[in-house]
Amino acid sequence: MSYNFKIYKNKRVLITGHTGFKGTWLSLWLQSIGADVLGISLGVPTIPSTYNIIKLNKIITSRYVDILNYKKLEKTILDFKPDFVFHLAAQPIVMESYKNPILTFNTNVIGTLNILNIIKNIKYKISLILITSDKVYENKETKRGYTEIDILGGLDPYSASKSMTEFGIRSYIKSFLINKKNIKVGIARAGNVIGGGDWSKNRIVPDIMRSLKTKKKLVIRHPNATRPWQHVLEPISGYLTLGQKLNKNHHLSGEAFNFGPKYANIITVEELISKFSFYSNNIKININKKIAREFYESTLLSLNCRKAKKLLNWEPILNINQTVKLTFDWYNEYFYGNKTLIKEKMLFQIKDFINLKNNK
Ligand SMILES: NC(=O)c1ccc[n+]([C@@H]2O[C@H](COP(=O)([O-])OP(=O)(O)OC[C@H]3O[C@@H](n4cnc5c(N)ncnc54)[C@H](O)[C@@H]3O)[C@@H](O)[C@H]2O)c1
Repeated sequence: MSYNFKIYKNKRVLITGHTGFKGTWLSLWLQSIGADVLGISLGVPTIPSTYNIIKLNKIITSRYVDILNYKKLEKTILDFKPDFVFHLAAQPIVMESYKNPILTFNTNVIGTLNILNIIKNIKYKISLILITSDKVYENKETKRGYTEIDILGGLDPYSASKSMTEFGIRSYIKSFLINKKNIKVGIARAGNVIGGGDWSKNRIVPDIMRSLKTKKKLVIRHPNATRPWQHVLEPISGYLTLGQKLNKNHHLSGEAFNFGPKYANIITVEELISKFSFYSNNIKININKKIAREFYESTLLSLNCRKAKKLLNWEPILNINQTVKLTFDWYNEYFYGNKTLIKEKMLFQIKDFINLKNNK
């Protein structure tokens, strides 16, 4: 299947978490298609931030709305009357979830249920794409890729908050939405996303790029942890595909989908670093096992994406070298090129990605 997301043209699309890493890419992509995008977020989560670098607020409508502020959230949604909602707002960092577990549970679980509770009474046609995580699965440290029917779990507060979110979503679907054909809900589970524009603390790629720039030692916790590394455009293309298909097929409503990378993209943290070293051999690694012991984090995780292939005709297209190259190029432009051209660079990468898919 080739990508044709014309369905979003002139549609009202609400994106929560639009100032974040994935939200910025998704907002830009949808804006470039001609969607009428309203982004809501708590604020800009990092300094620097790609949202600010590309001046996203000049090309879409942007508001600061806390998804835990029910009244304000309700007014924002009902006034805007979205045709599609992509819900990405979250506290998404595992380490942060140990420091602020209640905030993590509130934001991720209650924030999502607030959105569902508001939308459940809407009478017109609306599609809702809820972003959870690959960490929703009960981790059995198995090599087999998790499928959508595997048991949900999660030991650290972030993972538990995301699986609890899914239980809440399921309950809302079964209790309130089962007979409402106008409201469609899809759940998207993606893995470790990399790509230009991520500035979060305690994520490997921003840490690699910062260490390259500052020439400071890179501190890593789990060198042997394998992750399903994928470029940010892969899951985002998955979210857009899910929204597109949901809009037409009600039978997909309530389904969860894995959006993972190609199997060969599952490599260790150390192997990923060595791929970045290919472009620049400045990386000096310092393995901090103390932090690794203090905070549990699963070490082996991969996703089986056959369901997305079969029902949505979606599959990942980038191999690990293309994934790293696209990511490195973005930061290289930011650090050593022309910062004012980052938006054009991102639009270029989106266009290249679509061409790659359509010429497959
Ligand atoms: N980045 C990854 O590797 C990854 C992997 C799996 C799942 N996810 C999920 O994808 C989604 C987006 O992740 P990201 O990496 O772009 O995160 P991010 O930290 O870059 O952005 C988070 C966004 O959520 C907003 N937000 C936080 N609390 C809020 C609140 N109370 N009200 C309104 N907005 C609030 C922030 O302002 C920001 O815009 C999250 O749901 C995350 O759990 C991310």
